[in-house]
Amino acid sequence: MSTHRVEFPGSGFAPLELAHGAQLVLAVSALDSPLLFGCRAGLCGTCLVELEAEVTGSIAPPDADEREALEIYAPERPLARLACQVRVTGAMRIRRIG
Ligand code: FES
Repeated sequence: MSTHRVEFPGSGFAPLELAHGAQLVLAVSALDSPLLFGCRAGLCGTCLVELEAEVTGSIAPPDADEREALEIYAPERPLARLACQVRVTGAMRIRRIG
């Protein structure tokens, strides 16, 4: 099974190697997580991040429900994502917003 590097620049947290297809919310929800989660359902905006894929197109774009939430929580931030909705399908850098 392939893995992908997930970095959290500026956070002090070490990068992780996560399995292809892993749900970010399940992979980093242990104590001392570099990300915060609330509802885990794409509703509350607690997990708002900026996500840069190492390879453009390697991470699936937000679905319609996530896009609707992002228009509310981060309308001016094209890299914004809800971390609870992201699957690890490529190397990425993640920065918390807020
Ligand atoms: S944890 Fe609530 S939107 Fe992601």
